[in-house]
Amino acid sequence: MAGLPELLSSALQPAFDRLEAGADPVVRPSTRPGVDFQANGAMPLAKRLGRRPAAVADDVARVAALDELCSAVEVTPQGFINLTLSDSWLAERLGAHAADPRLGVARVADPMTVVVDYSAPNVAKEMHVGHLRTTVIGDSLCRLLAFAGHTVIRENHVGDWGTPFGMLIEHLIDIGEEEAAHELSVGDLDTFYREARAAFDDSPAFQERSRNRVVLLQSGDPETLRLWHVLVDQSIAYFQAVYDRLEVLLTPGDVIGESFYNDLLPVVVRELDERGLLVVSDGARCVFPAGFENRDGSPLPLIVQKSDGGFGYPATDLAALRDRFGRLGADLALYVIGAPQAQHLAMCFAVGHSAGYLPSPGQAVHVPFGNMLGADRKMFKTRAGGTVKLVDLLDEAVARAGAAVAERSELDAEERAAVARQVGMGALKYADLSTDRIRDYVFDYDRMLSFDGNTAPYLQYARVRCLSIFRRAGLDAVTYMDGSVRVGLGEPAERDLAVALLGFAAAIDDTLATWSPHKLCAYLFDLAGLYTTFFECCPVLKAPTEDQRDSRLVLCALTAATLGLGLSVLGIEAPERM
Ligand code: ARG
Repeated sequence: MAGLPELLSSALQPAFDRLEAGADPVVRPSTRPGVDFQANGAMPLAKRLGRRPAAVADDVARVAALDELCSAVEVTPQGFINLTLSDSWLAERLGAHAADPRLGVARVADPMTVVVDYSAPNVAKEMHVGHLRTTVIGDSLCRLLAFAGHTVIRENHVGDWGTPFGMLIEHLIDIGEEEAAHELSVGDLDTFYREARAAFDDSPAFQERSRNRVVLLQSGDPETLRLWHVLVDQSIAYFQAVYDRLEVLLTPGDVIGESFYNDLLPVVVRELDERGLLVVSDGARCVFPAGFENRDGSPLPLIVQKSDGGFGYPATDLAALRDRFGRLGADLALYVIGAPQAQHLAMCFAVGHSAGYLPSPGQAVHVPFGNMLGADRKMFKTRAGGTVKLVDLLDEAVARAGAAVAERSELDAEERAAVARQVGMGALKYADLSTDRIRDYVFDYDRMLSFDGNTAPYLQYARVRCLSIFRRAGLDAVTYMDGSVRVGLGEPAERDLAVALLGFAAAIDDTLATWSPHKLCAYLFDLAGLYTTFFECCPVLKAPTEDQRDSRLVLCALTAATLGLGLSVLGIEAPERM
């Protein structure tokens, strides 16, 4: 089932085609009272045809087959075509919509295989708030893509290789395997890393051992690899505990760490060389992709192999491109990584394309995000200036949600604990998802846990309010979703809510078009607001007639279903009661 803008667009298309084949009607929601949508396409078309916009709009409006869909079509002097949907058509549409478990969201006609590279913390290092953002945003994009019908391959590109591992393994030997495993498994990763770093900085002998250990690691020495595995396995178990708490889809099976690509790195160098892309610069093997410059205007190298023979982060990402578009047959790869890595990724994509790893440049997409800031609008840090542990954030959010829920609810202790978890975790995730991901956002428990405003608790509570109407009356919301009740749209609040409900598919489309979960959040927030207005103006159980009561119950059931499904594709649970 197509969304309203698509339906209007297809109805208008033949009329536009008569004037210019393929001209886009540009259908957008309208903010004018009494108008649902507007077609803006007459203006650019008039410009191309050298005609007056209103005349073009008139031509379109006169021949377009809109009788069934619209009760009013009005052309403005500027050349907008204002469209008002017909109530009877809307009512019919709503019936079909209610009966569709996907609430109007069609599965994509040509499903893609999409690799989503997200989370990617580093072994033996604490996950920081940047990892929270990539994990939450990446997870919702995975859910949205899967819901739209794509095949999703989650890849957790964990940092599990490189020169620091010499020092980390030597530190592990010094404190003993058991103690090391303990520190890492309880998430004391920072202490472990800091101590290793301190030993390295303090002692030339330790530095020497670390360097030798890197050589042993790279040459595949079995005992060294065993110790490396202790570090990796403990860290991954710890990351998984955080993922489980966060209720994201990631599993240990999704870990394709940097080390996975080790065998491919020499192959990448050879293939780049064969294509004539490699340049030796200061002993390092580099590629100079066109269009990338240093500050002084000199060409910027992507260093593939350092002068000491070691491979770095860029080589691994080139190998990952080769693997994703080759072995895995990806059609698209999303990289949910902070904005500071934009240049690194752009260079890898450019080189990957020249090397033939990336079939077309648009198939690898950086989905960047801004910083999470503290109340002081500076980088989010503990009071002592350290990295904030993610688990501490989660615990605090749930504890505060518990207090908020206890204040307002009559649930028993067990259900209250479950609701606190859903509200706390939901609030934390939604705060991240609801701001345009490119922007920095201020982390604020009070705001994210508020029952007012664009927050998870507000949406969760709106859904609970819809459902409680059914509970109070001893009715089952599901039975109002079979499309058998004709929805009446006499009140403006009913009509506004109905049009918004039918907009769910368009909201999902918009969200996926720019990989921006905040668009779905904004839609759900608007919907909840329209529901509140409807609820205030239109008595449901005390409606004047039985038909009206049933019709309004359909609107309530649909609102609850839309909020529930919308939150769930964002990765947020919605309690039945709170
Ligand atoms: N481990 C890196 C970090 O913590 C992120 C890796 C992102 N993925 C990638 N393919 N480069 O910054």
